[in-house]
Amino acid sequence: MLKNKILKYLYASKGNIVTGGEMAEYFNVSRTAIWKNIKALQEEGYIIATHKNSGYTLSDDNDVLTIEGIESCLTAKVFAKRIELLSSITSTNSYLKGLDLPSLPEGYTVIADCQTEGRGRMGRKFHSPNREGLYISFLLKPSISTAEIQLVTVCAAVAVCRAINLLLGIQTSIKWVNDIFYNDKKLCGILTEATFSAELNRIESVVVGIGINTGKVAKDVLGIATSLYQISGKKGLREPLAAALINEFEKIYFALGEESKRKQIIDEYRDRLFIIGKKVMINNFRSVYPAIVRGIDANASLLVTTSEGEEQTLRSGEISLIL
Ligand code: BTN
Repeated sequence: MLKNKILKYLYASKGNIVTGGEMAEYFNVSRTAIWKNIKALQEEGYIIATHKNSGYTLSDDNDVLTIEGIESCLTAKVFAKRIELLSSITSTNSYLKGLDLPSLPEGYTVIADCQTEGRGRMGRKFHSPNREGLYISFLLKPSISTAEIQLVTVCAAVAVCRAINLLLGIQTSIKWVNDIFYNDKKLCGILTEATFSAELNRIESVVVGIGINTGKVAKDVLGIATSLYQISGKKGLREPLAAALINEFEKIYFALGEESKRKQIIDEYRDRLFIIGKKVMINNFRSVYPAIVRGIDANASLLVTTSEGEEQTLRSGEISLIL
C-alpha cells in the first residue's frame, strides 16, 4: 500500500524535509498521489508538517501506536509473542477476558488507543480518552496461590515505575496497592482480575490492565492527576513506553518464581511506597476506618495499626491518605 510505503520513507528520513517530487519519483507515482496519501496519514493522527514549496517532515511528537514501532524497541520474548492493537474498545481488560483464555498463550497483550468503558478498581470508571494514555492488558497464567495474587499487581507496579524511569529518568512512587503517583498526583492505575477454577482449585488466569496517562489531563482532575506529558513536556512516548513496560514486566514477572528475586521485587515495591508511617483511611469493602501504615509483608499485604491499637494485615481493600 502506497500510504504505508510513504510512512516508512518518512520514518527513515525523520527530522529531515522530504519533497513530494522525491517521493513521487521514488515510488513512480504522481505528486498528487503522494499528497493525497500524506493527507490520509495526517487524518489517521500522524503529525506530518507540510513546508510550503519544499516538502514534508514527520514530527518527533508522533504518538501513533504501531506493532512495528513497539516491536522495534522490544527485548521481551514471551510477552512480545502476541500483541493485539485496537483503535477503540470498551475496555482492554473486558475484551481480553472475553477471549478464549485457555487457548491463548501467557503474555498475550492487548493495547487500545481509546477505551469507551475503561474500568478502575472498586467499580470505578477509568477515563481513557483517545491517544491520551497507554491502555494495556496482559494475560498471565501464574502458578501462585490466591493468597499471592497481589504479587502480580506488585510486579506490574514495579514494571511501570522502572519503564517510566528508563524513558524519562524520573522516580515515581506507589500507593498500595495499585496506583502510581508522581508529586502527589496519580499517573497510572492497575486493575488485576483473576479467574479461579473451582474444579482445579487454582488460579486459571490473570488479566492485568494498566492505564498510564501520557497526554492531556482533563481540567477537572488537574489537581489530583498527572501525565507523562505534564511531567516532561514530551509527546510521542506511547510506543517506547509500551515496549519498555512489556520488557520490564516480563523480566519482573518471571523473576517472581525465584525466592531471592521475589524478595528483591517486594523490597523495590516497598521502597517506592509513600504511605509507610502515614495516617490513612482504609476501605475494606465492608467499612471505612482510620489507621497508620506500618509496612507490607512478604505477600505485599498491608500492615496497619488501627486507632484502637489493633494490628491488622490487609490482603485487599483501598487506602486514602489523611492529610
Ligand atoms: C484504577 O485506577 O483503579 C485502575 C485503572 C486500570 C485502568 C486500566 S486501562 C487498561 C485496562 N482496561 C481497563 O478497563 N482498565 C485497565
